[in-house]
Amino acid sequence: MNDTIAPEKGSSPEAIENHYGTGNEYFALWLGNAMAYSCALWDENDPDQSLDDAQMAKILHHCDESHARDGKHVLDIGCGWGGVMQHLVDHYNVGSVTGLTLSDSQKEWVDNKNDKRVESRLESWKDHKPKNTYDAIISIGAFEHFAKLGMSGEEKIAAYREFFLKCHSWLQPRSYLSLQTVAYGNSLTEDFDKFISSEIFQETDTPKLHEIAAGCERLFEVVRLRNDRDDYRRTLRAWYTNLRANRERAVELQGEKEVKRFERYLRLMAYMFEVGGLDLHRITLRRIDDPK
Ligand SMILES: C[S@@+](CC[C@H](N)C(=O)[O-])C[C@H]1O[C@@H](n2cnc3c(N)ncnc32)[C@H](O)[C@@H]1O
Repeated sequence: MNDTIAPEKGSSPEAIENHYGTGNEYFALWLGNAMAYSCALWDENDPDQSLDDAQMAKILHHCDESHARDGKHVLDIGCGWGGVMQHLVDHYNVGSVTGLTLSDSQKEWVDNKNDKRVESRLESWKDHKPKNTYDAIISIGAFEHFAKLGMSGEEKIAAYREFFLKCHSWLQPRSYLSLQTVAYGNSLTEDFDKFISSEIFQETDTPKLHEIAAGCERLFEVVRLRNDRDDYRRTLRAWYTNLRANRERAVELQGEKEVKRFERYLRLMAYMFEVGGLDLHRITLRRIDDPK
């Protein structure tokens, strides 16, 4: 991994790779065809909806909310395995998409598609120096990594503000940032399960809603905000079911201990969303062109 990347305020590249570098085949066993590692958007009136279908609805939500259609250049911060980027160039008439990730294996997955319109960069948003301004920015499931456990509320807000300032400077006037992130709900930092923070998402502290609001104040206006925490419960259950169904191969790839660790993580997280300890925010933000 490139050792010039050092997002000291959020999760380190090593912590990210420790989780996401577990192996593409392993993740493919339970994430489904979409290879989307973030909360899907489910139809509450359709209990039989498939995970892939709900992941596609999530992709469409962000492509629409970011107003990316016909954009020349779009940025995906925390692009994962590239599902959103591919959809933008294939179906939204977007000229080129730049994706940022800290995971080698995710970059390799995107590179293997060999699509000149899509570029995955092994780079933190902190180090990104765009070649051009962007017509839209999308960031799904990455914001959670931008602050570390142990940071004070003020330090977290400062880290988030740095992120929003950069997004602001990279965007064209009147354009949009579509953000999706987990946030604390009815829980305290102390409630955050030690198992999750020490063994699954190391060096990660999720935001509180007011910290996101303070971070983007007078830079972006909040156009829409929805808390879809039940969608994450449903997504985690679907991942758990897939992992159980493919358990034999998963154990071959990762070993019993690792698979058990993931099963525990998926169950615990589903519970946190079910009881409202965690929320899932989808926030549509429009750039304020003349911040006071
Ligand atoms: C949970 S995955 C979500 C991936 C994808 N957006 C999706 O929905 O499937 C989080 C992503 O954020 C990336 N990430 C975390 N911290 C980052 C940073 N500082 N700069 C850029 N990407 C980051 C990870 O490498 C990973 O691709």
